[in-house]
Amino acid sequence: KKPVTVAAIRNAKGKDPLVCLTAYTTPVAQALDEACDLLLVGDSLGMVVYGMESTIPVTLDMMIAHGAAVVRGSKHALVVVDLPFGSYQESPAQAFANAAKILAETGCDAIKLEGGAVMGETINFLTQRGIPVLAHIGLQPQSVNALGGYAARGREAAEAESILADARAVADAGAFAVVVEGVVAPLAARITSTIRVPTIGIGASAECDGQILVTDDMMGMTLGHVPKFVRRYADVGATVKAAAAAYAEDVRARRFPAEEHLYGAKPKIAAG
Ligand code: KIV
Ligand code: NA
Repeated sequence: KKPVTVAAIRNAKGKDPLVCLTAYTTPVAQALDEACDLLLVGDSLGMVVYGMESTIPVTLDMMIAHGAAVVRGSKHALVVVDLPFGSYQESPAQAFANAAKILAETGCDAIKLEGGAVMGETINFLTQRGIPVLAHIGLQPQSVNALGGYAARGREAAEAESILADARAVADAGAFAVVVEGVVAPLAARITSTIRVPTIGIGASAECDGQILVTDDMMGMTLGHVPKFVRRYADVGATVKAAAAAYAEDVRARRFPAEEHLYGAKPKIAAG
């Protein structure tokens, strides 16, 4: 069994912060695995890997393919796979069938789904039947069409109360931890001190029980806009661009391939 279990994440409440990142491929999962407690195969892959405009078009098959790839690259961190839009909102039974398919076909440890109080019944249904659930409240990218945009949530008292109620509902329903995305910092701190399972913040608060970022954002590999809440830890995009330019120069100048890259310099030809 892996060092990091669902129980270990749940028990990390109020202890050392949980280190979480997204991963979509085997080599990146291998590189992140040791440093992280949790790797999330987020449906953000629709935008980050496939260039889609939102997470709405991401399919169950895409999540399964990338989930299996990340599981193959991880020996340490807990691997959680997102349920994509349309695969769980209809009913607890629909959510169970698709979550079970993801668990069986990827070998991941848990699933994540978006939604607060409205998902309470579904979270309870799954957790009672052996599927660990990571909840996701506050800004919910799969609801971008209904909510209009990615602005931070909880600035107004009524909305803040409703997000706090969501946090209570998903924790009471049995979620082992809760991603709190894009809410004003004081609300994220209040949620963290209120519920008894860990909060994992993104654009939230340093007081959350853990932090998560989209790996490509923090590595500097994202096309286009990078949100305010991201800290850049590398400039991988610039490194790749420079490597491509250097390769192009070498090919055009016939400096690549060189002698050491070549096979069969001396073919054996039969005498006579
Ligand atoms: O899809 C994703 O990457 C996520 C994280 C940002 C929490 O849901
Ligand atoms: Na997601």
